[in-house]
Amino acid sequence: MLVLGIETSCDETAVGIVVDGRRLLTNIVASQAAIHAQYGGVVPEVASRQHIEAILPVVRAALAEARCTPADLDAVAVTAGPGLAGALLVGLNTAKALAFAWSKPLIAVNHLEGHVYANWLSETPPPLPAVALIVSGGHSEIVLAEDHGRYRLLGRTRDDAAGEAFDKAARVLGLGFPGGPAIERAARDAGTKPPRLPRAWLGKSDDFSFSGLKSAVMRLAQEGAAPAAAIAAGFQTAVVDVLTAKTARVTAAVGARSVLLSGGVAANGPLRAALAERSPVPLWAPPLDLCTDNGAMIAAAAFYRAESGAAGLDLDVRSSWSLAAG
Ligand code: KG4
Ligand code: ZN
Repeated sequence: MLVLGIETSCDETAVGIVVDGRRLLTNIVASQAAIHAQYGGVVPEVASRQHIEAILPVVRAALAEARCTPADLDAVAVTAGPGLAGALLVGLNTAKALAFAWSKPLIAVNHLEGHVYANWLSETPPPLPAVALIVSGGHSEIVLAEDHGRYRLLGRTRDDAAGEAFDKAARVLGLGFPGGPAIERAARDAGTKPPRLPRAWLGKSDDFSFSGLKSAVMRLAQEGAAPAAAIAAGFQTAVVDVLTAKTARVTAAVGARSVLLSGGVAANGPLRAALAERSPVPLWAPPLDLCTDNGAMIAAAAFYRAESGAAGLDLDVRSSWSLAAG
C-alpha cells in the first residue's frame, strides 16, 4: 500500500511517501524555522500563509523524488490534529482536494500517533505493547500503545511541554530558535561544570512539570550566576533525568516490550543515550530527521489506520485531539 502523507500542524510543510507503513520512498520537509526565528517562536498566522505557498511544490517534489505518479498511490493521509488550526487547515484542504481529484481514499491521522509511527520506519518494527514517550514542542506524554490504534495515557505534562521548555530556556539564554538543537549544541561546548537545576518529581505521579525548571533558568540567567552554555547544560541534564527516570519506571510497571522515543525532542542526543541506558526493555528512536515533524511518519501511521482513519470530504481539523480518545 503506497501512501502519501501530508503534515502541516505547526511550522514544517512536509510530505512523505511510504510503502506498507515501513519503507520510506521520500520525505520532503520545507522548514519555516528561519522565518519564525525572527519572532523567537512560531507565529500561527505566518505559518498558515507559508504552508499555502509551500504545499503544492512540496507535494510535486515528493512525487518526483519517489518516482511515482498520483495513479500509483493507494491513499492520501493527512494530519487532522492536534496543532495550530489555521496551519492544519492548509494541509487538510490540500489533502481533500488531492484525494478528490485523484479518486483516492483520504485517511485522517493524529499528529502524535504519527510521531510514534516514525519508529516503524526502521529495519525492525518494535514489539507491542510499547511505552511511547512523546516529547514535542506542544506535547509531553507517556502513552501505552497496547496495540495498533489502542492507547492509554499514563502520564502527561502539567504545564509546559518538554520542547516548549527547551525553546523558552534557549530564548532566556539568548541561544536562538528552535531551542532544542541550540541548547544541545551550547551544552556540548559548555566546558565549565553546569549548575544543578531542580527536578519536579511530583511524588509517585507519572506526570511531568517543567515550569519550575524554566523559572530556575530565568533566575540564574538574570543573576549572571553561570555562563549561558553551563546553564543550558544544567537544564538539559535535569530534563533528561526526569524524562528517562519516569519512562523507565512506567515501562517496568506496565510490562511493556519496547520503549518508543517520539517527537522533536527525541532528536536530543543525551536523551537518546540516557534512555537507551536506563530503559528496562529495548529502545526505539527514529533517525534524527524523522524525529521532528515530517510527512513520512503520517504516511506510516496511516497504513495502520487505513480503516479506522478513513475520512470523508467533510473532515474537519481537531486542534486538540488526545491520542487516548481514539
Ligand atoms: O515534534 P516537533 O517537530 O513539533 C511539534 O510537534 O511540536 O517538535 C519540535 C520541538 C521544538 O520544541 C524543538 O526545540 C524540539 O522539538 N527539538 C529538540 C531537539 N530538536 C528539536 N529538543 C531537544 N533537543 C533537540 N536536538
Ligand atoms: Zn510534532
